[in-house]
Amino acid sequence: MSALSHLQAKEDPVLETLLLPVANAAVTWPAPDQGEVLFLRARSSGHILPQQLTYSQRQQLLCEQSFKPDALSLEADGLRVTAAASGRFPLVLLLPPRSRAEARTLLARGWQHTAEGGVLLCCQANNAGARSGESDLSKLLGAEAVHSLSKQKCRVYWAQHRPHMSAAVDQDLLQDWLALDVPQPIAEGRFLSRPGLFAWDRIDAASALLARHLPSDLAGQGADLGAGFGYLTAEVLQRCPAVTGMDLYEAEARGLDLARQNLLPHVGTSTALAFFWHDVTTGLLAERRYDFIISNPPFHHSRSRADAPDIGHAFVVVAAASLRTGGSLWLVANQHLPYEALLHQHFRQVQAVCVEQGFKVIAAVK
Ligand SMILES: C[S@@+](CC[C@H](N)C(=O)[O-])C[C@H]1O[C@@H](n2cnc3c(N)ncnc32)[C@H](O)[C@@H]1O
Repeated sequence: MSALSHLQAKEDPVLETLLLPVANAAVTWPAPDQGEVLFLRARSSGHILPQQLTYSQRQQLLCEQSFKPDALSLEADGLRVTAAASGRFPLVLLLPPRSRAEARTLLARGWQHTAEGGVLLCCQANNAGARSGESDLSKLLGAEAVHSLSKQKCRVYWAQHRPHMSAAVDQDLLQDWLALDVPQPIAEGRFLSRPGLFAWDRIDAASALLARHLPSDLAGQGADLGAGFGYLTAEVLQRCPAVTGMDLYEAEARGLDLARQNLLPHVGTSTALAFFWHDVTTGLLAERRYDFIISNPPFHHSRSRADAPDIGHAFVVVAAASLRTGGSLWLVANQHLPYEALLHQHFRQVQAVCVEQGFKVIAAVK
């Protein structure tokens, strides 16, 4: 379990509000013999699902979650998790993400997964796209099909798949929204990326700054923590001929899949790349020791968008534990985030390499 699990929100008003129409019988939870309940972008947030659903209801849930920390906590709560669901369901639950393009794809997918007679039930925080989400579902299905309730600064909205409703559904829009999530070339075709990933449609300025300051004599086995679609590793491989292998650790499977596609065609047989769908805060693979580690650690909590020095701190501690003595950590962070004291605790030497554009690049030697 993550070293940060004590920090993960025990309160999750979005998840609580999602289940409100079920609690007040506006939406009927299907009987066990009616089939499974699909939960897209599922999370259980510190046992909220076990508290709010009966054992038999939880047995019906099939959770789709590509973000490893959330997938781990769902599994820890005894829920079934899949990376990609298929089929039709009598009830589909969805927590649309903040990225509108990704949310639209999920609304379209959620509707495709909803069986005739079934319900698609969605919830978002008011400050994370709830109004847009409801209006998008209305565009897709017609405003009269969509119902909503507000509570705890969140909006839950839903629609039932009534018989003969298909004619009212905007099929062109449905196809357009499904296509939004298809990987797209960015950075003049150098990488494939997709909506919802960190800085998905560009090279992030902080990552570019770190890349510019990486020394060309990095050598041996490296790791990239929070590797995204693979930009920093690509830069290392391009600049550092003595690197023999890179392990990419990334929590978001939708990013890691693209890192594979972005990097594998460009490496020769002398460079070993390995890709791990992994929550870095739980530690790296125990048997691996690294000559160097690079990272632009996450600086926001994935949901609250609050600064997340705690996650960045966990990345630093984990990096220190997996570097061999003499190995180096190359890190970029927002200038105001406090990393230095922690780095001094875990590393022999800590050097501020540059401060630019509100970011700092730090090199630390174990
Ligand atoms: C600031 S982004 C950097 C992405 C990429 N390295 C780049 O430079 O463009 C941080 C990355 O860490 C990933 N991440 C967030 N929490 C994580 C965790 N607990 N374990 C592993 N990766 C995580 C995010 O999905 C994101 O891709």
